[in-house]
Parts: sequence; C-alpha cells; structure tokens
Amino acid sequence: MTPWLSPEFDDHEQVCAFSDAATGLRAIVAIHNTVRGPAIGGTRFLHYAEDRLALDDALRLSRAMSYKCALAGVNAGGGKAVVIGDPALLKTRDLLHAYGRMLNRIGSSFATGEDVGMAVADVETMREVSPYVGGTASVGAGDPSVHTAKGVFAGLRAVLATRFGGAGFSGVRIAVQGLGNVGWRLCELLHQAGATLIVADVDQVRVDRATVQFGATAASTETIHAAAVDIFAPCALGGVVNAATLGEIKAQAVAGAANNQLAAPEFGGALHERGILFAPDFVMNAGGVIGSIRELNTIPGRTPMDVEDTNAALDRIHDRLIEIFARSRDERRPPEAVALDLARALIGR
Ligand code: NAI
Repeated sequence: MTPWLSPEFDDHEQVCAFSDAATGLRAIVAIHNTVRGPAIGGTRFLHYAEDRLALDDALRLSRAMSYKCALAGVNAGGGKAVVIGDPALLKTRDLLHAYGRMLNRIGSSFATGEDVGMAVADVETMREVSPYVGGTASVGAGDPSVHTAKGVFAGLRAVLATRFGGAGFSGVRIAVQGLGNVGWRLCELLHQAGATLIVADVDQVRVDRATVQFGATAASTETIHAAAVDIFAPCALGGVVNAATLGEIKAQAVAGAANNQLAAPEFGGALHERGILFAPDFVMNAGGVIGSIRELNTIPGRTPMDVEDTNAALDRIHDRLIEIFARSRDERRPPEAVALDLARALIGR
C-alpha cells in the first residue's frame, strides 16, 4: 500500500497511517494541500474490501476538500481521514479516544469532524481528548447538514438563473434522490419555495413522510434519475451519473449534494454534450464547511477567519456557480472542468 502508486495520489503533502492494537483502530489521514491554511476534512468510518481502497478514498476525498474549501472561499486546506472497519462492530469510546490522541500527534495541520459512519456524538467523544476536532454541538455549529442543505439551495438558485431564467422555484419540478440529513432539509426549503418534488429513498418511511409533508410524488430508487423533471438533485450516493444512467436523464440540470456524482470525469463532458447543466458537487455541497468557520477559529494553530453572516457566506455558492456556468458557456467547456481549473489555481497547482 504505497500512496505514490495510488491512482488518486496528487502530490499530497502528508499521508499518515496509524494503528492501535488495544482498540483495533486502523486509520489513514491524508493531507492534500495546505496552501490556503491547515487542512480540514471529515473522518469516514467504513469497512473496505481492501486496505488500498481505504487509501484511495482518503487521497481522493482530501483532494476534493482542497477544491471545496478553495472555491467556497474558506482559508483551509484539504484533508480527509478514514478509520478502517465496520463502525457497528468496531466503534467504541476507547477507539475514538485512541484516534483523537493520534490526531494530536499530527497537530494543527489537520482538523476533522464527522463523515460517513460517524455521528456528532462520536465527534464529541473525540473532542474530549483532542482539540483538533470540529462539528460538535457543544462548541460549534453541530450537524453540518443544516448548512449543507442551505448551500445546495443557494446553488440551485444559480441553476435556476442560468438554465431557467431565474423565475423562482414555483412549479419547478425537482427530483430529490435520498431523503437523509441533507435531502430532507433540502426538500423542506424547496417545498417552502414552491417547487414540485419527486422523491426516492430506500427507506420507505421517509418517502411516505415526504408525500404527506411536502405533497411529493414517490418514485422508485431504480428510476428517480430518469424522472421527467427540470432538475435532478442527487442527495444519496456517488457515481449516479454513469454509463447506465447518462442516456436516461431527462432533467435539464443535475445539481445536488452527493459527493462524486460523476462516476468518472468523462461523464461531465458527456452531460455537457447532451446540454444538461451539471453543478459540480464540490461547489454545491460546501455549506457544511462554510458553516464550520466559527468553530474552526477555536481550533489551535489556525489563523482566525472573518466570521461573516453564515447565510451571506452560503450565498457565495450561488455566486461561484454563476461564475463557473458563465465561463463554461463562454469557453464551451463542461462546468466541472472550469471548476477544477479555478480550484487548482487557487491552491497553487
Ligand atoms: P444520509 O446518510 O443522512 O442520507 C442518505 C440518504 O440516502 C438516506 O436516507 C438513505 O436511505 C438514502 N439512500 C441510500 N441509497 C439510496 C438509493 N439507492 N436511492 C435513494 N436513496 C438512497 O447522508 P447525508 O448526510 O444526507 O448526505 C447525503 C450526500 O451528501 C452524501 O453523498 C454525502 O457524502 C453528501 N454530503 C453531505 C454533507 C453533510 O453535511 N451531511 C456535506 C457534503 C456532502
């Protein structure tokens, strides 16, 4: 398992592997780039079929964090951590403490919070032994999905303005895939704004609640991507734009919260050729990072950032997308390619 040989390696500044036999902890921390400030990124607690896949994940996700922070105007670099194993079997208070102590060895160049397999309560447990932890309810903004959903909503306003003439959400048909922390809150905002919702989730209880609460129409999880809507908003899984789904998407825009919506970079070009506007996910879902600025300022070793009004900061997602879509149109290139160029320039790559 050699970082340099991973297909996801991108001149990462630092990659650390930790283990603690007493608790079964095995973790990888990847720091991609700290040109804009010490790195931040969540900790993913997940079973991987092979360790090298965990390394690939840490490398890829930390790079995406560099891009996300840069485009969101947050003075932090990109990092990510993975704890390898099934959290249901492995996650204990002792393990979280052992992990927190390992974070202390890395010190101020990386701060972390929740991600897949971690909850706010776990982050609070880590915080008991490490100051390099954010996203706690006690000190910080708590559940980041509140801000992530608001940021996605701001991004959807940019999609409306660019593709639909900005006439507001009233009557705009939006298919939301996934009614979890972000998807549900996004539906609340869209419903209040007058959008017509089509929803799908593997959890039927959530779907039923959405039909009652938002007047949403239920769709199958197999076909939600192909719904006859104006906007398809993936808020569940990555890789939803792939060889099988590409030709079936009827929406004029794909814009949601899910990380890594394109199964491979070339699908950004394929959407562009089909005239479907794609809002790069690392721009759309930066709300959680923006909402954490206040708490980041309390973490040792950081140059404090200005804390402006959080809602105003979330509006930058709208402004950034307007800029990216305009350049995409002028340069006749996919928005994803434009966003990557902008982000890489901002981190000195
Ligand atoms: P979550 O785990 O709370 O919700 C995901 C939802 O998707 C669940 O309700 C689940 O049942 C549903 N789902 C799973 N498979 C599905 C399928 N095949 N079809 C339809 N629904 C399915 O996750 P959360 O926090 O809402 O995040 C959603 C996405 O946004 C993820 O891709 C995440 O990486 C991304 N994201 C989340 C952020 C946050 O602040 N929570 C920040 C940035 C990105």
